[in-house]
Amino acid sequence: MAQPWPQQTSELRLGVMASGEGSNFEALVAACREGPLRGRVLQLVVNNPGCGAQGRAERLGIPCELVDHRQHCSREQLDGALIEAFAACGVDLVVMAGWMRIVSPRLISAFPSRLINIHPSLLPSFRGLDAVGQALAAGVTLSGCTAHLVNTDLDGGPILAQATVPVLPGDDRNSLAARIHRQEHRLLPLAVALAAARLRDRTAAAADPSPPAGPPSG
Ligand code: GAR
Repeated sequence: MAQPWPQQTSELRLGVMASGEGSNFEALVAACREGPLRGRVLQLVVNNPGCGAQGRAERLGIPCELVDHRQHCSREQLDGALIEAFAACGVDLVVMAGWMRIVSPRLISAFPSRLINIHPSLLPSFRGLDAVGQALAAGVTLSGCTAHLVNTDLDGGPILAQATVPVLPGDDRNSLAARIHRQEHRLLPLAVALAAARLRDRTAAAADPSPPAGPPSG
């Protein structure tokens, strides 16, 4: 993880989506509260009632809304409920921290360049489900995690940051996943800061009407 931390000029308002344990959600909250991320997690949305992330939100005092995919008849409808939940609290960025559902173009276009995913592999290798199992089955000796912007290409959006871990002899899914998790917890807050810096740079470039400097004429 060689990327330097970008400067943050204002506090980020964050929304988080989680389906499972929620350790990345908690790491993000800790990075906001104890540094180094200048931000605040305003809203967690979970899709599985009683999941670990929901319990963590209660303990951490973060508002948590259940948007159960079983109560929605399509991805678009589920994503509509997510958009409503995040719009209500006016978040700048939304982080998929272990969200185990494919999102629709509706959610992606509601948060252009503002939707971040963390995936437990060195993308573009091992996209999709069970990335850790896929890495073990392939016999790679290096694995890791990737934080990226979400687009309609599954696990294929622009990469924000990556971290590597070794695959050790005798590793199983649990041991390798635990090693990757430790890196994810450091990587995800950095990726959020990098995504915010990209947005800031893009806004500044759009506001500056001067053409880029070219070679001298004549
Ligand atoms: C993380 O390892 C994350 O990379 C993975 O789910 C885990 C969630 O852990 N996400 C995916 O596989 C998405 N394709 P957590 O609930 O403890 O944060």
